[in-house]
Amino acid sequence: MSVIIAPSFLASNFLRLEEECAMVNRSEAEWFHLDVMDGRFVPNISFGLPVIEAIRKATTKVCDVHLMIEEPGLYAEAFKKAGADILTVHYEACPHLHRNIQQIKDLGMKAGVAINPHTPVSLLKDILSEVDLICIMSVNPGFGGQKFIPYTLTRIRELKDMILAKGSSARVEIDGGVTTANASDIVSAGADVLVAGSTVFSSADPIATIAELKKA
Ligand code: DX5
Ligand code: ZN
Repeated sequence: MSVIIAPSFLASNFLRLEEECAMVNRSEAEWFHLDVMDGRFVPNISFGLPVIEAIRKATTKVCDVHLMIEEPGLYAEAFKKAGADILTVHYEACPHLHRNIQQIKDLGMKAGVAINPHTPVSLLKDILSEVDLICIMSVNPGFGGQKFIPYTLTRIRELKDMILAKGSSARVEIDGGVTTANASDIVSAGADVLVAGSTVFSSADPIATIAELKKA
């Protein structure tokens, strides 16, 4: 199976959101990656429910919502109503992670867990059989346009081995600093989904850039 491309709209031009959605609709990208930041879990504030609701009306592709917020359980139902297909919460923001995952699935969404660069992937071992997606952050979350942290490649291999050993169907998503130069190394290490923000939206030809990432 070829890698799934998920352009991160954090890097899109918000003044031209409808055209940006149309561009991704025409491209080979399968998912829309939507980054929600609360200014508490991460030191930045992005966009929230009304923007996701608007984007939902502009696409039939999968809306992959990445919550970089504290207490995500308080908002899971609202994100379902706004149109999220996949809802990803951070391991570090969820002392009751299993409860959060169950809630997301009970609401009829696919459930994801994201982990920060310093969090050992081994901590996810027991939750692997419950989730649809693990998002390994390859930058410190909060901002687009950062540099890929090289040791992420080792973390991808370790996670992939755990997933295979468990017989889990969880996909591995890599988020942060993905470029056309490092995409094939990331896929070789075991990634199933590549999130790409600035690489896609700052490209002179975003559709061609998405196609190039897809070939990785
Ligand atoms: C970072 C976000 C990413 C970000 C990726 O906290 O979760 O999705 O938009 O942006 P790039 O691809 O520019 O690193
Ligand atoms: Zn993200």
